Amino acid sequence: MPARVTLHIDRPGPVINRNLYGHFAEHLGACVNDGLYVGEDSPIPNIGGLRSDLIEAFRRIDPPVLRWPGGCFADDYHWRDGVGPRDRRPVTVNTWWGNSLETNAFGTHEFITLCRLIGAEPYLAGNLGSGTVAEMRDWVEYCNFDRPSTLAKLRAANGSPMPFGVKYWGVGNEAWGCGGNFCPSDYAKEYRRYATYLRDFGGTPLHLIACGPDGNKPEWTRAFLKKLSTADKRFNCRIHALGAHYYCGTAGTATEYSVDQWYELLHRAAGVDQLLTDQRAAMDEFDPERRIDLVLDEWGTWHPPTPGASQLWQQNTVRDALVAAITLDTLNRRADIVHMANIAQAANVLQALFLTEGEKLVLTPTFHVFEMYKHHQGARGVPIEVESPVTSYVAGGEKRSFPTLAGSASVKGSALTLSLTNAHARHSVEASIALAGAGPRTAYESSVSTLTHDDLHAHNTFVAPTELAPRHERTTLPAPLRLALGPASVTVLRLSLS
Ligand code: AHR
Repeated sequence: MPARVTLHIDRPGPVINRNLYGHFAEHLGACVNDGLYVGEDSPIPNIGGLRSDLIEAFRRIDPPVLRWPGGCFADDYHWRDGVGPRDRRPVTVNTWWGNSLETNAFGTHEFITLCRLIGAEPYLAGNLGSGTVAEMRDWVEYCNFDRPSTLAKLRAANGSPMPFGVKYWGVGNEAWGCGGNFCPSDYAKEYRRYATYLRDFGGTPLHLIACGPDGNKPEWTRAFLKKLSTADKRFNCRIHALGAHYYCGTAGTATEYSVDQWYELLHRAAGVDQLLTDQRAAMDEFDPERRIDLVLDEWGTWHPPTPGASQLWQQNTVRDALVAAITLDTLNRRADIVHMANIAQAANVLQALFLTEGEKLVLTPTFHVFEMYKHHQGARGVPIEVESPVTSYVAGGEKRSFPTLAGSASVKGSALTLSLTNAHARHSVEASIALAGAGPRTAYESSVSTLTHDDLHAHNTFVAPTELAPRHERTTLPAPLRLALGPASVTVLRLSLS
């Protein structure tokens, strides 16, 4: 199937915020406990209880930001439970996720250590649902104050004389649901009270992230911002970002799906574009100057539970890899309106990058996509036009269609990165690629990375951990550029424009 891709090199777009490649870890199933954190006494090699192999792998993808401790868990988490000598921390009940016992061994200091080890900015989601304004305000002071207040001295006594300088703070999570079941205007009232007391302790300017709606509900966003703003479109409290969540869900199960279900899920993943458009439009009504950032602080697939596995554990196939690639391409293309995104979740939960079992670690296809796409981080977006064949499928007795080929492009210095997904289950796409505005050339020294598999259900297991891994090739591509993109594939082409 032929397709045409035009890259407007001469019309550079906005910088792709590195934070669009962000992550999320919640105390849920085996994400934190028995995933990222195994404890200092574990036979599994670790640094202060944090799995060494996972830290090493995480570093490979340059994670810009990590959100913690939830999710729903955030609004039932009391930060004081997770600081001080570990043997004196209380054992609490994780009421959101199976009433599991929470030892609190992984708390604020362990989280900051993890962030530093992997090179990510910390993003703390505070407890608005069951906490108090004073509790969240104290957490900010504990983390960030730089003079000897009692809380700053407590942080020093617990091992960190230097402030943590945490900039990103979530003011609750999913306030419309597990974060307190608020209606938008009641949440706005609560939000205003919290925002008033969350201060820039220690000179770290806070970036306060309010909860957005349940999926793509512009009316929620409007009602919330209306309550928070005055008639002359000023906000009467601090608000720096609004966090939407987008789970494209499932079709079939994690590993069993028909070809139609393959398409259905990929089409739904592409739907994140609509959410970003609609949410920004709703925000623009109250914030036309775009002082409030739109963030997507949870996204990913959500398959039915895997029998016998820990909470929200799911496998990750080549289909999940395409979901990740389609989503990241959308975020790159919409870098003008979206500033941060956090895939749910890092390890062993939902669309995980890492699966662990005892000392075994599996890098999922989603991990490989993040590694292939990392060159887009902080690069300048290049506008892309794709003339693509259309793929049709049937879902719920209805015929639907979507473009087979999608992608995004960016440039950093003279290095061009072009990522493309071919969603077709059986056919290759022959793409001719025009570089509008680039000087004439006869050939390009290029590198091409491809992630694909003949089996649409392929995934990595603890027995076969590298069943799905990218193939890398250095090659000289003649101009004009042409790429043959195999079925069910993610491709990243890199070349120098100089
Ligand atoms: O990521 C799992 C859950 O999904 C989070 O706890 C919650 O915020 C969302 O509903």
